[in-house]
Amino acid sequence: EIVEKGGFPHFMLKEIYDIPLALVNSFTSLMEKYLSLASMIIYGAKNVYIIGNGTSLHAGLISSYYFSEIGINVNVVSAAEFPYYALDNISTGSVIVAISQSGETSDVIRSVKMAKQRGAVILGVTNSVGSRLALESNVYLPITAGPEMAVPATKTFTSTIIVLKTLSVYTGLHSGKNDKNDLINLKSEIEKLSKQLSTRLQEMEKEAENSVEKLDKESLYVSSSGINYPIALEGALKFKEASMTHAEGMQLGELLHGPIVLANKGYPIILIKPAEAEDLYNKVVKAVRDRGSIIITISDNDGDIRTVKTSRDLSPISNIIPLQLMAYKLGVRRGLPIDTPPGLVKAVII
Ligand code: AGP
Repeated sequence: EIVEKGGFPHFMLKEIYDIPLALVNSFTSLMEKYLSLASMIIYGAKNVYIIGNGTSLHAGLISSYYFSEIGINVNVVSAAEFPYYALDNISTGSVIVAISQSGETSDVIRSVKMAKQRGAVILGVTNSVGSRLALESNVYLPITAGPEMAVPATKTFTSTIIVLKTLSVYTGLHSGKNDKNDLINLKSEIEKLSKQLSTRLQEMEKEAENSVEKLDKESLYVSSSGINYPIALEGALKFKEASMTHAEGMQLGELLHGPIVLANKGYPIILIKPAEAEDLYNKVVKAVRDRGSIIITISDNDGDIRTVKTSRDLSPISNIIPLQLMAYKLGVRRGLPIDTPPGLVKAVII
């Protein structure tokens, strides 16, 4: 087990350290012919649904920002809720982008089968080559993050974002919103991010460790806006799984519409500075500071935890890492079985 963990005390930490290399691998392993086919199918679709659960759903939410930029409307729906959506809308011409790290999650497989019966085309995104999702898909894009052992997903999340971003750029080639240069730029942006993350990770781990005492409370908020809003959701999920802390992720603007009532003296709030909406961010920082909340900021220039500067579209990758590290460190501080949280399994097959 020690060897498999490469000297790290837990798989979760090892897998966070795998992220920089996995990002590049995930991009380079995507085959042009499948990307072309998948993007053509999305471009020609009558409607597009992106489904997944948990972390995979959050990656899907991030991709909705990519697709909207290139003029493609997508519906992002939990695979657990998809069967209760208006299935009458699913017919020949519908496209389902089904995301599942394990490729075995029952909610995903069930929804995929229902959609197939109605004539939809299935584009599968999974980290598991021989999985049920891979077999049920008409076209399948591999995540190629390498095996992920810890129940709290880390590197598969960041690699899924790479796959979906690349798919969106290919789709943009059809809609005329992107050209070949955008692909070249994406490649170099991923390589740059990967390199900078490798050099910053140890420092970030220390910064996360230093912040963790402030977070050792019963409950906390994580908040951001724009393309980093799903990172607030994903960060909160990591705190629940790895540190068994009640955590809620929300949009910065929504924080002001009720949740702020709990943000009193000593209540921890993690704020991720958004790539957009700086004014809103400053307003929220002031509002919670005035109430005496404990604030931890994540930003690429002036945060308590400084992330790596990258493009707006890749900033969710940069911003999730400190949250993964803080959730991990809080779990360690509490002596929890981080890789195998009580009663949780890697793939929910019920
Ligand atoms: C992530 O940390 C969780 N363990 C969980 O939410 C997970 O993402 C979800 O169950 C979906 O799993 P999948 O990607 O294998 O389908």
